[in-house]
Amino acid sequence: MTDIHCHLMVGVDDGAKDLDEAKEMIKLAKKEGINEIIVTPHFTSRLKSLYHTKFEEIQKIALEEGVMLYRGCEYKLQDAISQKNDIITLAGSDYVLVEIASGILAEYVLNQVYQLKLCGYEVIIAHPERSFEKKDVEKLIRLRDMNVYFQLTAGSFVGLFGRRVQKFSEELLERGLCHFIASDAHDSSARKFYLKEVKRYLLSNYREKELSDVLLFQNAQSILKNSEIINIFTTSKKNLFERMFNR
Ligand SMILES: [Fe+2]
Repeated sequence: MTDIHCHLMVGVDDGAKDLDEAKEMIKLAKKEGINEIIVTPHFTSRLKSLYHTKFEEIQKIALEEGVMLYRGCEYKLQDAISQKNDIITLAGSDYVLVEIASGILAEYVLNQVYQLKLCGYEVIIAHPERSFEKKDVEKLIRLRDMNVYFQLTAGSFVGLFGRRVQKFSEELLERGLCHFIASDAHDSSARKFYLKEVKRYLLSNYREKELSDVLLFQNAQSILKNSEIINIFTTSKKNLFERMFNR
């Protein structure tokens, strides 16, 4: 599997608190079957000056553990707009990971996302299931129709953020509003990866067997290759009979 959203970098945001924890996270990732991670610290004004050194120190550990790291960043939409000529994209591709503040998905926000696309970026919105609600679905559909992508959090599907977020994650998935599932891991305990758990969850609850492969691997590979091919699924849950007989 390939994780496209992870706070593995030490001492730059609320992610790994020291190199020991980063190593623990890398070992955990490897154990779950994650071979590639795009490191996505939160953008701050001091990040650029630290990036190279901070990336090198975890890259060294990751290589020892057999995990490949790529550079990336998680931007607040406003920061992405202000940095638009100098964005740290995901793995050097055209894809940029953007979080939108929780609350109403206003019209001007959609315009800002569009402005970013006009600069030549492919926009991936991080964790919409935790930022928005049912009433925002029509706006999310409009964004998707503008070829904006959505990255949902693995932990959301397995109940880490509560029942409401879990149900909303399922709704977004079933309506074709989920292109990637990533960890958004921040540590090696409460906010870990959950990719293995979500893979099992998708396989036992949803009809399409290829769903987990597309959402946890194939679409992420398109980022690494800077390919425009991002697959999208509308899906539905298995019924009781199908679940009982593991069809
Ligand atoms: Fe994040």
